[in-house]
Amino acid sequence: MHLLIAAAGSGRRMGATGNKLLLPVAGRSVLAWTLDASLACPAISWIGIVGQPVDAAAIAAIVAEAKPDLPVQWIEGGDTRQESVSRGLAALPAAAGGVLIHDGARCLVEPELLARCAAAVQQGAAVIAATPVTDTIKQVDGAGTITATPDRSWLWAAQTPQGFPVQQLRAAHATATEQGWSVTDDAALFERLGLAVQVLEAPASNIKLTTPFDLTVAAAVLASRC
Ligand code: CTP
Ligand code: MG
Repeated sequence: MHLLIAAAGSGRRMGATGNKLLLPVAGRSVLAWTLDASLACPAISWIGIVGQPVDAAAIAAIVAEAKPDLPVQWIEGGDTRQESVSRGLAALPAAAGGVLIHDGARCLVEPELLARCAAAVQQGAAVIAATPVTDTIKQVDGAGTITATPDRSWLWAAQTPQGFPVQQLRAAHATATEQGWSVTDDAALFERLGLAVQVLEAPASNIKLTTPFDLTVAAAVLASRC
């Protein structure tokens, strides 16, 4: 299974000066933890890391330190996550049949979750890691007034890994570019095209490091695993 790690963001909501994936957490960079979990999943045979040129040297150092026993390729990212994933798909080896897309910012991912997603894609499915929401979700208008309360029993929070047959995901990205669709995850492209995507329940720990608070949580989780 081929894996693309999206690492080309700037981490604006983290408030750091550079890419949040290079920040230290529990003694190593966020991206180093993500890469380690990926390398520990036997189902993964090839990894592409999509990054910005400004971070290329730092990312190369992280890869070298991980001493990978499989190919890890550098891919230049784009201005949006969607464009970064598109570029990653274009850089996949011709033999790739299925692909997992994973946020570099989800450094608490466990190899077991990657393996479960990979197994489903190998069966021809499109899948995403997700968790049932625990908060009641409100829809709110521009004036801050609640307009709806969707039934929580149907709501899941989408995460990564997200896995797809490569040709279908490439075609979905091409359609999105043609039609000007802008999405925050890859599953949304499949949904727009009427293609089925299954959720695989992920552990609650599979959070995306978005704000400084998430760094504190991640440090505690990683410390508890040592
Ligand atoms: N990402 C990417 N290319 C972009 C933007 C984001 O590869 N142009 C990646 C990020 O590096 C991250 C993942 O997509 O691993 C999820 O995005 P997000 O959490 O939004 O990260 P950032 O875009 O870096 O953060 P922010 O939105 O706060 O600026
Ligand atoms: Mg972002």
